Amino acid sequence: MPIVTIKPQDKTQEGAEGTTLREVIIAAGIPLNECTCAKGYFDNCHAFITEGKKSLGKATREENERLDQIVGVGSKSRLICEAKLGPENVTVELLGALSG
Ligand code: FES
Repeated sequence: MPIVTIKPQDKTQEGAEGTTLREVIIAAGIPLNECTCAKGYFDNCHAFITEGKKSLGKATREENERLDQIVGVGSKSRLICEAKLGPENVTVELLGALSG
């Protein structure tokens, strides 16, 4: 199973392929802020993928539309609730709203 390294906490967690990064991060014991997407805010799931981004597959049109509404999005950006693990290890950097 691929291993997810979570920064800045420097925790690692295994996850099965097809599992979302959000599920893996919660399994690692890292508390995340509640989802606010029902209110139209997606910042709570915005993170940078610093390694293994290609393994996650491409973002869907819906994810890209959500990312377009977030300030500070870059080429490494993904939503942890949408990005699903592929076969390779991934490093995810949690951002302000996520990293506690
Ligand atoms: S769970 Fe709501 S934006 Fe990710």
